[in-house]
Amino acid sequence: VWSQVPQAPPDAILGVTEAFKADKSPKKLNLGVGAYRTEEGKPVVLDVVKEAEQRIVNSPTGDKEYLGIGGLPEFCRLSAQLAYGECSKVLQEGRVAVVQSLSGTGSLRVGGEFLAAHYPHKIIYLPTPTWANHNKIFPNAGLEVRKYRYYLPRTRLLDYEGMMEDLKSAPQGAVVLLHACAHNPTGVDPSPQQWEGIRSIIQQRQLLPFFDSAYQGFASGSLERDATAVRMFADAGMELLLSQSYAKNMGLYGERVGALSVVTTDPKTTKKVESQLKQVIRPMYSNPPRHGAAIVAMILGNPKLYEHWKVELKGMADRIITMREKLHQALVDQGAPGDWSFILKQIGMFSFTGLTKEQVTNMTNKWHIYMTFDGRISMAGLSASCCSYLAEAMIDSYKN
Ligand code: LMR
Repeated sequence: VWSQVPQAPPDAILGVTEAFKADKSPKKLNLGVGAYRTEEGKPVVLDVVKEAEQRIVNSPTGDKEYLGIGGLPEFCRLSAQLAYGECSKVLQEGRVAVVQSLSGTGSLRVGGEFLAAHYPHKIIYLPTPTWANHNKIFPNAGLEVRKYRYYLPRTRLLDYEGMMEDLKSAPQGAVVLLHACAHNPTGVDPSPQQWEGIRSIIQQRQLLPFFDSAYQGFASGSLERDATAVRMFADAGMELLLSQSYAKNMGLYGERVGALSVVTTDPKTTKKVESQLKQVIRPMYSNPPRHGAAIVAMILGNPKLYEHWKVELKGMADRIITMREKLHQALVDQGAPGDWSFILKQIGMFSFTGLTKEQVTNMTNKWHIYMTFDGRISMAGLSASCCSYLAEAMIDSYKN
């Protein structure tokens, strides 16, 4: 019965890892998926995570019972505090509905399904380009996807004018997906002034912002700075949705731990919204896993562990910034023609190289360097010893 099932194409990002694993070359380098690696190219479990896990395992009250549909209450409370700020008005006024969810993808999907069921406008605007999975999550949730201009390849900068024009002409009430910081895949973020302009047009046009926050603290090294845009919108009294992931900033990739929050107008509405988020979750996966959420709650809720986390987080962010400097230097040293300062200016886990699909094929086939076809490389997967090799491969591929 299944012989007529067509072969699906490999995933745009996770498929790169599969191809990398199948390559036997000793030179191979995986710069596809956004996953942090040490200088030696190894995955990392943060020391603070190990310590939190020890405490959880040794806790006399620990069990493996089901969590509630909305997840671990302490995790939800602390996640909202991390995003909106401890003293934020929206939290003090009881205007944030929060549920634990399955990292970024799960939060976005639950948010999308909630919107499809309870929000009168079914159109969501995504930036061009955006994280490949956004293009699948929202149609699968029942929303119509439209695009707004975001990145200008010619300048390698934000297409602010284009973005504002597209937001101005979006139908009133449409949802707008915004990357809270460290835009994936371009690494290009609006300046604080540009954020203010974006916020103001969204408010004027009565659009609904849906933030995807996958890199809080991981982009700049500061949890506060990376929350600027979300807090700017929330503090302006706007209703919004927010997806949070702890995959990158706590290195909890495979634990699938994240949160979805919805900012409302009053505590009564918050309760109703939370009840409907649970209606989405129960038939989808019943309730979320407890281990990752327990780790996050332990770290966020303990001042000593929290400080320790901030140091390790800054260490990861700083190593990525150093990789940008090293790759830039290697390109300059090898006489690569053109201006490479964009590598230094971009922020977060990725650099958007401008390599075309054909050039990416050359990077992979000839140099065994794996990256996504949109020309994105994960700076977090790079180590100092590989920068010169990567620069050589890039120079060769640009010629093709
Ligand atoms: C990425 O963009 O590489 C990450 O967010 C991993 C993923 O799930 O795609």
